[in-house]
Amino acid sequence: MKTTLRKIIIFSMSVMLLAGCSQKKDVVIGISLGPNQERWQKDLDLMTERLDYAGAKVLVKEAQNDETVQAEQIEDLLKSNIDVLIIAPVNSETCGVIVNEAKQQYPDLKVIAYDRIIKNCDLDFYVSFDNIKVGELQADYLTRIKPTGKYAILGGSPNDNNSQLLKLGQMNILQPLITKGDITVVLDKFVADWNADNAYEIINNYLNQGKELNAIVASSDEIANGASRALEEHNLCKTVLLSGQDAQADACKRIAEGKQTMTVYKYIESLANSTANIAMLMAKDEPVPNSYVTMNNGATMVPALLLPSMIQVHKGNIRMTVIADGYLDRKEVFGDEE
Ligand code: GAL
Repeated sequence: MKTTLRKIIIFSMSVMLLAGCSQKKDVVIGISLGPNQERWQKDLDLMTERLDYAGAKVLVKEAQNDETVQAEQIEDLLKSNIDVLIIAPVNSETCGVIVNEAKQQYPDLKVIAYDRIIKNCDLDFYVSFDNIKVGELQADYLTRIKPTGKYAILGGSPNDNNSQLLKLGQMNILQPLITKGDITVVLDKFVADWNADNAYEIINNYLNQGKELNAIVASSDEIANGASRALEEHNLCKTVLLSGQDAQADACKRIAEGKQTMTVYKYIESLANSTANIAMLMAKDEPVPNSYVTMNNGATMVPALLLPSMIQVHKGNIRMTVIADGYLDRKEVFGDEE
């Protein structure tokens, strides 16, 4: 009897020990970063720093804007026993197929869409900014300066759902002025890959025809970069209004020089930290606080966190925003000038 009891006690202790061990198992987080524009490296650094600090093992793959490479890299990450996969997709649509396949193969896997939603798939969380608001801030700033005239709209990549949301916001501001007859949209295009050269081509072709232009609602700083090159070649860079987004160093430099009107500075540190915190909770099977916001991705209502933290940056407030925050160095924007 005594031996049986001893055996039971030893068995239960081993189970408890094993349970203890499994609770303490390393959390492994995979990050698949699709886009490669300037800001995303900051996102990645901030997120990995936070996850490292929280004690996770972090595996990172960067696809340099190539959706095929991203698909292969995600397959690789899945082989490493990850608990949570954070994806910033190159293509919001095709990435959904990859996520569904991953979920079928690894039913316990949790997937978080970082800043860009992933469509038509079983997604666990979406963390981003209020992208409609970003579009509104861009068009709002330009139309307050020029409430009449000829406008071009340069959207983002047609493969990124954010481009549609930005356009909704831009049109919220532009449409009443178009209806009134004050603003005419003379050019309305999405720019493949959010790429500067593609934006340059579009604006350059338009201006080469000798047509007039008063403002360009450019959806990002990378697009503004290409557009401003075309404007500069036509001696229009200080007369045509130009928006942007991301507070890239080159964009803020152009703003300081009067060659770009504004950019939208989003606090990506909150985005990166919130995502890391949510990933850690999910990895430990702990409840994620309810944000009472969902986003329909075509397959399901995805719990979402849409951060409102953003500000219009213009010539008058560069120092007290991006520079005061330490987001950019004063020299990157103003060079050696005081
Ligand atoms: C979008 C994002 C923008 C910009 C763009 C290009 O998804 O909302 O902030 O970074 O990608 O990289």
